Amino acid sequence: MKKINTKNFKKTLSKFTTGVTVICVRKNQDIYGKTVNSFNSLSLNPPLVLFSLGNYSSSIKIYLESKYLTINILSKKQIKISNHFAKKDPKPIKIDFLSGKNNTSSISDCVANLECKVIDKIKKGDHIIFICKVLNVRHDDKLKPLSYYNSKYC
Ligand SMILES: Cc1cc2nc3c(=O)[nH]c(=O)nc-3n(C[C@H](O)[C@H](O)[C@H](O)COP(=O)(O)O)c2cc1C
Repeated sequence: MKKINTKNFKKTLSKFTTGVTVICVRKNQDIYGKTVNSFNSLSLNPPLVLFSLGNYSSSIKIYLESKYLTINILSKKQIKISNHFAKKDPKPIKIDFLSGKNNTSSISDCVANLECKVIDKIKKGDHIIFICKVLNVRHDDKLKPLSYYNSKYC
């Protein structure tokens, strides 16, 4: 094994295949989204999930202030949406959202959507772990999930 540095750490983590999600929050009438692959299940009972966001993110304040959010698991047909929400200050594009309870918005035509309440935030290193209680879910068995491996979609 080689001694760890930022480059070989990132490359090693990229060998773990993940799905791709967009985390959406609402502030007044505006919907914010961020492409995230650190999403994971945490507990079945109670139903808990987690993801982490870089504390250097331009929109971290909006996420830290949000009580409710949606986690949108993207399908293979949604690479454009993933790229869009991986940009800093993305320009508006036409995306269909579905309104949920607690003033939430979820992205249409996803493999799955989870409507969540943020119950804890833990600062570790340069990221903040968001722990969320899942309130409502939706899934589509016909769609294929978008995957991410070696810093590429697959
Ligand atoms: C496939 C993929 C997965 C990503 N996963 C995360 C993640 O788990 N956490 C995170 O903070 N940023 C993640 N990002 C980066 C953000 O989407 C975004 O590019 C980054 O936060 C910079 O923009 P910002 O400063 O406006 O937040 C990911 C990007 C891509 C393309």
